[in-house]
Amino acid sequence: MTTTTTNATTRTKSLAKRIFNFSAGPATLPEEVLHQAQQDVWNIADSGIGILEHSHRGKVFTRVLEEAEADCRAIAGIGDDYHVLFLQGGASLQFAMVPMSFLSSRRTADYLDTGSWSNKAIEEARLLGDVNVAFDGSKTSYDHIPADDELNLTDGAGYSYYCANNTIYGTEFSRPPATNSPLVCDASSDIFSRPLEVSQHAIIFAGAQKNLGPAGCTLVIIRKDYMAGANDGLPSMLDYRRHADKGSRLNTPPAFGIYVVGQVFKWILRQGGLAEMAIRNREKAGIIYTAIDSSSGFYQPVARPDSRSMMNITFRTPSDELDRKFIEEAQQHDMDGLKGHRSVGGLRASVYNAFPKAGCEALASLMGDFATRHG
Ligand SMILES: Cc1ncc(COP(=O)(O)O)c(C=O)c1O
Repeated sequence: MTTTTTNATTRTKSLAKRIFNFSAGPATLPEEVLHQAQQDVWNIADSGIGILEHSHRGKVFTRVLEEAEADCRAIAGIGDDYHVLFLQGGASLQFAMVPMSFLSSRRTADYLDTGSWSNKAIEEARLLGDVNVAFDGSKTSYDHIPADDELNLTDGAGYSYYCANNTIYGTEFSRPPATNSPLVCDASSDIFSRPLEVSQHAIIFAGAQKNLGPAGCTLVIIRKDYMAGANDGLPSMLDYRRHADKGSRLNTPPAFGIYVVGQVFKWILRQGGLAEMAIRNREKAGIIYTAIDSSSGFYQPVARPDSRSMMNITFRTPSDELDRKFIEEAQQHDMDGLKGHRSVGGLRASVYNAFPKAGCEALASLMGDFATRHG
């Protein structure tokens, strides 16, 4: 690496053939987890069989699944009143499963439109029932998270839906919105990056491929009494109750995904849990925001300062041409994945839990140098 890896020699060694990956997802995973997975793909728990080859009903996988659920509960303080499910279909299937289960001709749902992903969820819900857009962020180019008094909520809504972190625009709720109906949260891009108020929610879901593990596994945390009121007549694979009855093994589950997510849960616990994640993430994101704010306007942030995401940092240089040049130079310095989403343009640095602080320092250093040369 040409950039700083100043810490222990073991770290430098383990990073030797890797570069800083700022991808929005799939994204950087903890090195310890990757090393453990390498071993366990060959032979897990001294069973003589790799994790990819074990029966999903056998003893070894049963333990993997049970530990993943227990560790997830321990991380977020999830009580017995919630199910913890590991499903498939990505977060996008949840865009459909939620309204299929909880929307009907008698029940409107409130949706907060804070970006592309909540917008997609709204489109899916509209296929299935009545939707009230309680906040329309498109009017301000999705530059901020609404204050409570910007919400136009429905009395007696079936649920209120929000996306905790808007991966594309780089805005993030600092706390759940104050609503008067059961709260549904898409936490795909900031789950377990900070303490999570589970008890304020009826459902929290997250595709794994940013903060939790590989694509193909979706974590769903759903309150039991809310789930009990789901619509009847759904196909089994789209019915939360069937998945919960079978403990996430209604069919062959995403076994490898669950295994890796379980390892990431253990890693989070070893690091000190969500409070420690929040400290590290604030520090890491702060390094890059400081580089933006101290550039005398060379870098323009996409998100309003009061709505900044700790996970996805979005900004622009003065021109598309300089954006492209910056990305090229970053690649020459072993930094990848910095191109902004095609709908926003500019640059985006995604710095999820496992992304190292050294990568944020390397980026900030290049940003300062680049602005001096091109400002
Ligand atoms: C906040 C958010 N929700 C949903 C999705 C869609 O996830 P999936 O590809 O797992 O369906 C993404 C993907 O980036 C996302 O960032």
